[in-house]
Amino acid sequence: TKTTVSVLKADVGSVSGHGVAHEALIQICKDALAKAKEESILKDFYVTRCGDDIDLIMTHTNGEDNEEVHKTAFDAFMAATEKARELKLYGAGQDLLSDTFSGNIKGMGPGVAEMEFKERPSDPVIVYCCDKTEPGAFNLPLYKIFADPFNTAGLVIDPSLHDGFKFEVFDVMEHRKVILNAPEESYDLLALLGSTGRYVIKRIFKKNGEIAASVSTERLNLMAGQYVGKDDPAAIVRAQSGFPAAGEVIEPFAFPHLVGGWMRGSHNGPLMPTSQKEANPIRFDGPPRIIGLGFQVANATLIGPVDLFDDPAFDNTRNRAADIADYMRRHGPFEPHRLPSEEMEYTSLPGVLTKLEERFEKMDE
Ligand code: F6R
Ligand code: MG
Ligand code: MG
Repeated sequence: TKTTVSVLKADVGSVSGHGVAHEALIQICKDALAKAKEESILKDFYVTRCGDDIDLIMTHTNGEDNEEVHKTAFDAFMAATEKARELKLYGAGQDLLSDTFSGNIKGMGPGVAEMEFKERPSDPVIVYCCDKTEPGAFNLPLYKIFADPFNTAGLVIDPSLHDGFKFEVFDVMEHRKVILNAPEESYDLLALLGSTGRYVIKRIFKKNGEIAASVSTERLNLMAGQYVGKDDPAAIVRAQSGFPAAGEVIEPFAFPHLVGGWMRGSHNGPLMPTSQKEANPIRFDGPPRIIGLGFQVANATLIGPVDLFDDPAFDNTRNRAADIADYMRRHGPFEPHRLPSEEMEYTSLPGVLTKLEERFEKMDE
């Protein structure tokens, strides 16, 4: 039998604005998943949070897109929402677009990253969870992990990686997808991946079709037709023997690259890797955060996790991210700190333009 790892995430309310998911909500989710484990829907689970987002990391043998598993997560988020309303938490239920489960969680608000695979004799799996950013934030690090030999030594020196990988890329504007091969088509791939707000990596495979990575790509803002919350992403990545080593999977996050999100989902800022405990985006509602959890998957149970960025080796990265945050903030309302207008989640521009319409004067050619 195959094992499935499912990460479903949602922001259903937080403390002190869009800051931190309340412990009571996390406990409610843990209780709900413990019950599902008793009922044999799940084999195992781990609940964490990054900022105001709760991440349900679940293992089972029911495959991807399983109705029972998705309903379990949806019901957990619903129960947590009830508590959030009682405590008058900020943004209570913000990512749930409906209060009844319709058989498939897609389009209902929560983000989903899943992968089904046949367990190897030993199967290290790394889960990343972000806050105050978007799925395209994973484009750069995932490219480095699976296609850049300056990051992943194994692409050059390990015969089991030397063939490269296949990237499934979603065009989130046009709702279409394409598969590109690396290294053969890496320039075409990069031409797409550089547009992080539009083209996002959904999945990565070995050339033999084995799943290597999976990202949540729901764009909440587009899905609901209007902005209802940030689509803060999660990702699952397999490591070792035939995949990049755990250290190669972690290495790109030592560079705090600029991502879209931060204040009002409308600013570029550095992606700061932290421990679970420090995943508190406070300064200017940020800067954007990522946590990393290292598991061993054993007979569909989760051994671990190791809190991957709870490591002094990432202190320089965090200091650098804080310096970049200072630098970016100094731009105030100017690009490229503020996102270009079509990428902003909040904008007053149409109103301002309407107001000024009469005062604009045509100029001679
Ligand atoms: C960004 C985020 C926050 C909010 C900001 C304003 O993803 O969640 O920066 O956008 O705190 O929130 P509202 O409009 O709810 O007052
Ligand atoms: Mg929120
Ligand atoms: Mg969030």
